[in-house]
Amino acid sequence: MSLEVNLQVRLAKRPDGLPDDDCWSIVEHFVPEVGNGQFVVRNEFISIDPAMRGWVSAGDSYIAPVAIGEVMRARAVGEIVGSRHAAFPVGTKVMGFFGVQNFGLSNGQAVTRIDEALAPMPQHLAALGSPGMTAYFGLLHVGACQAGETVVVSAASGAVGQIVAQIARLKGCTVIGIAGGSDKCRFVVEQLGAQACIDYKSVNVASDLRSLCPQGIDVFFDNVGGDILDAALANLAQHARVVICGAISQYNNLDSVKGPKNYLSLISKRASMRGMLVTDFADRNAIAVSELAGWLRDGLVRSTLDVEAGLTRFPSALRKLFAGANFGKLVIEV
Ligand SMILES: NC(=O)c1ccc[n+]([C@@H]2O[C@H](COP(=O)([O-])OP(=O)(O)OC[C@H]3O[C@@H](n4cnc5c(N)ncnc54)[C@H](OP(=O)(O)O)[C@@H]3O)[C@@H](O)[C@H]2O)c1
Repeated sequence: MSLEVNLQVRLAKRPDGLPDDDCWSIVEHFVPEVGNGQFVVRNEFISIDPAMRGWVSAGDSYIAPVAIGEVMRARAVGEIVGSRHAAFPVGTKVMGFFGVQNFGLSNGQAVTRIDEALAPMPQHLAALGSPGMTAYFGLLHVGACQAGETVVVSAASGAVGQIVAQIARLKGCTVIGIAGGSDKCRFVVEQLGAQACIDYKSVNVASDLRSLCPQGIDVFFDNVGGDILDAALANLAQHARVVICGAISQYNNLDSVKGPKNYLSLISKRASMRGMLVTDFADRNAIAVSELAGWLRDGLVRSTLDVEAGLTRFPSALRKLFAGANFGKLVIEV
């Protein structure tokens, strides 16, 4: 193992706006030596997430920023190839923050064992990973959707959005998606079972929501923020719940975030708007994994992957998320 090279993507400088290629250095390093209570994972798939943009910004957040020169933080799935940790022997398949590199060193903290019988490896970064958990707890616990209600989800064809749309449909809700472009909108309706999908790039979202949701929106699951959040706020039902899952339209411009100008509707509609972090539900992940794995197995939920080949694709792959160029959960196959 020690003769192998550990290709790593390191943060070279903090991005200003969209991260350019020169924000990263791609270096050859050695495979880490395993100390007592540690193990080394050979990464198979690496998750590319919108949150990565926040992780490389200086400033206050829910997690410390990646330091300049440090290996880029990333969730990954892989196999343990060296171990001096009794609970994680060689051959175990695991998911954890192993970084954008071939081999990650871990002490087992925040590492989950993967049951490949449930679903193929990359799905443990998708429907059975953070996006699936976010969708499940965000919709069912934070949004508290009920059968017969109208659920609207933005970035509906994406990793989180596609699972939200399908769980809402399974729970007996009317689902309206919002996505960029006719191909994505067709997918949201024909493959995910939404009643309609609004192409925000070609129509007025607020007026389409008004005609598609005549009784108003009961749950708005927002992945996007900015103008789309405002369009939804203008169309809430009484006692609506707005789930602030993400705001990808704002991540590259955190110095002048566009806030919701229509927030006064929260008063007249007696509505609530609540932020969420998937990690707050970690103690209940096993419940969600089991239910989502059952839906996947029974064909009731599908989870589309967008797979890039090779670590060197990382800089351009990350930019795909902000251009809407990914179709489904974006991962790198190492
Ligand atoms: N709170 C949590 O714990 C948590 C956990 C996981 C993810 N999230 C958040 O969930 C959201 C979705 O993440 P994901 O992993 O599922 O990504 P994703 O939806 O698979 O990919 C991002 C999508 O966002 C859309 N988008 C990008 N820029 C946009 C813009 N300026 N305006 C409107 N739409 C834009 C694009 O779809 P279109 O082509 O349709 O525009 C793009 O494909 C992100 O905001 C992420 O930060 C939050």
